[in-house]
Amino acid sequence: MYGREVPTGVAEASGSFVRKVTVPDIRGRKAEGPPIAMVTAYDFTMALLLDEGGADVILVGDSLGMVVQGLPNTIPVTIEEICYHGRAVARGLRRAHLVGDMPFMSFQLSPEDALRNAGRLMKEGCFESVKLEGGAEVAPHVARIVSAGIPVMGHVGLCPQSVHAMGGFKVQGKQDDAADRLIRDARALEDAGCYSIVIEGVPADVAARITEAVAIPTIGIGAGVHCDGQVLVCYDFLGMFRGMRPKFVKRYAELGDAIVEATRSYVDEVRTGAFPSDTYSFGIKAVARKTA
Ligand code: KIV
Repeated sequence: MYGREVPTGVAEASGSFVRKVTVPDIRGRKAEGPPIAMVTAYDFTMALLLDEGGADVILVGDSLGMVVQGLPNTIPVTIEEICYHGRAVARGLRRAHLVGDMPFMSFQLSPEDALRNAGRLMKEGCFESVKLEGGAEVAPHVARIVSAGIPVMGHVGLCPQSVHAMGGFKVQGKQDDAADRLIRDARALEDAGCYSIVIEGVPADVAARITEAVAIPTIGIGAGVHCDGQVLVCYDFLGMFRGMRPKFVKRYAELGDAIVEATRSYVDEVRTGAFPSDTYSFGIKAVARKTA
């Protein structure tokens, strides 16, 4: 089908075609806008809803270690776990681009090891691109992955996999030299072939300088409004996570409270016998029809 654009995507039952967001689309948003709206997801049902809500990019982040598994940090998360959640999320997506996080020690050892594991994410996790943390030191690893046709999203600033080196989840790039280093890191990632970069936990003016310094889109989390897009963890912006509540998280709903309330009502009705009423029970005729 050379010479004709064949967009990837899925045909709906209604016959209308939903076009998948592609890597070139994401790159193009730097110049053309609108800002990229990215969120995390870890399962099919949530992915379906976030896609329906119009998220452009869905990330299966290694944040799943904290918000799904209840760990204190992301370090123990494995490739197998990212792939397991990736397959579930992929089944729920019609439009959003799907990115898989490369977990701690899946890309640091060597460019070859990084490529091998990025390939596993694409083949076993159904991802359409991968994300990895780090600056200039991982540029050769990015270049090797990109050389195999796998798109890479970078991640600079607060890199949660380096929590122990940073002495906690701390804002990065506050000093002039640290801010300059972040800009060099972002440029190195761009030169290595990244198609976009997450900037996490840096002052808004520093994120603005990084965004200005590179020709690929930046996607901020705790990095102010001057990035080319924003990303939030789904359990955070939906108000479900009961743990850490960082300043940059705006809660667009309080689903955690709604779940607790709904559960209380269900428990009460089960205990009093109000549930299941006739409405939620099969009558004799209905059962007979069903078994006939
Ligand atoms: O793991 C994750 O969810 C992330 C995002 C917060 C950017 O890396």
